[in-house]
Amino acid sequence: MSNKKILILPGDGIGNEVMSEVLKIIDWMAKTRSMTFDITERLVGGTAYDKEGDSISDETMQIALDSDAVLFGAVGGSKWDNVERDKRPEAALLRLRKDLDLFANLRPAVVLDALAGASSLKLDLVKGLDILIVRELTSGVYFGQPRGISKINDTESKAIDTQVYTTSEIDRVSRVAFDLAKVRRNKVSSAEKSNVMETGLFWRKTVTELHKKEYSSVDLEHILADNCAMQLVRYPKQFDVILTDNLFGDLLSDTAAMLTGSLGMLPSAALGPVNENGTRAAMYEPVHGSAPDIAGQSKANPLAMIMSFAMMLKYSFDMHEDSKLVEKAVQNVLLKGLRTADIKDGAEKIISTQEMGNAVIQELKILTGN
Ligand code: IPM
Ligand code: MG
Repeated sequence: MSNKKILILPGDGIGNEVMSEVLKIIDWMAKTRSMTFDITERLVGGTAYDKEGDSISDETMQIALDSDAVLFGAVGGSKWDNVERDKRPEAALLRLRKDLDLFANLRPAVVLDALAGASSLKLDLVKGLDILIVRELTSGVYFGQPRGISKINDTESKAIDTQVYTTSEIDRVSRVAFDLAKVRRNKVSSAEKSNVMETGLFWRKTVTELHKKEYSSVDLEHILADNCAMQLVRYPKQFDVILTDNLFGDLLSDTAAMLTGSLGMLPSAALGPVNENGTRAAMYEPVHGSAPDIAGQSKANPLAMIMSFAMMLKYSFDMHEDSKLVEKAVQNVLLKGLRTADIKDGAEKIISTQEMGNAVIQELKILTGN
């Protein structure tokens, strides 16, 4: 049915193990749902640096540009701590984001019923939680110029990072947040530091104007980013969509992630602008990192990677039913008490990465009769 081109970038650490479980699901879908993807796999991160001399080669970058979607595992590890900055594993991630213009990062934090007890917050605070962080991903202090470390004199040096945002950069990510809020609970909380930063003040003003012009039916609140972090652990259910910049989004999304009990459960999507033929560049990635400490031990939780694939089906390929099917299979596996070590919460059975992947396939078979 579909001949969508997917670039698979497993990366470093547990990236390979969790990606293998997604590949099993893709295989199953090809066999049973007459849905085939055109898959290319390449190296990225430290593994690519070791073999190809850069954390992402120009050739791989070109394949990413020519793909319908990129599925990304994880990069990084202390092994590459001393590699120069522009060749470090993380540089590949930043290049993919920038060169594909993936400005809108969707990071859902959803507490599944079966896992509510795994959160470090009290059960009633997180049960049923469903929030979405929309993080600006291609600008702000991550990319602003000037930046660098330089000498002032023999004894003093200085470091500069620049936070910069333009009207259109704020507008486009805000539109994504407002549009998503409309099909959720219709509320956007825009987080910045307008009490201290020029960019914060400008962010607030720009979001306010766009809201007035195009989205007045959506509830909009402005919240200082520090207060937002506090409110996330005090009473997270007050939020629906949180809209924020690149750096605050990095921090707030880790906070929100932990409300759900484990980073091993959280998928994400990074979306580019919609082009003339109605498609957009996109990359899907679990929020967890490469976890070198458990790499190669079959302990990693593949569910965030699997749910990232489910997000791909939904946001890139409009395969809403298949996306829901994968999500449902994951939920059922958890309801049966199957757990990887990171989400263990008592007496449940601990299973390996591969067993978890197989359990999801088993559920898919049960759900579809295939
Ligand atoms: C994330 C990560 C990255 C970021 C790192 C690995 C560059 O923390 O995706 O949240 O800071 O954006
Ligand atoms: Mg982060």
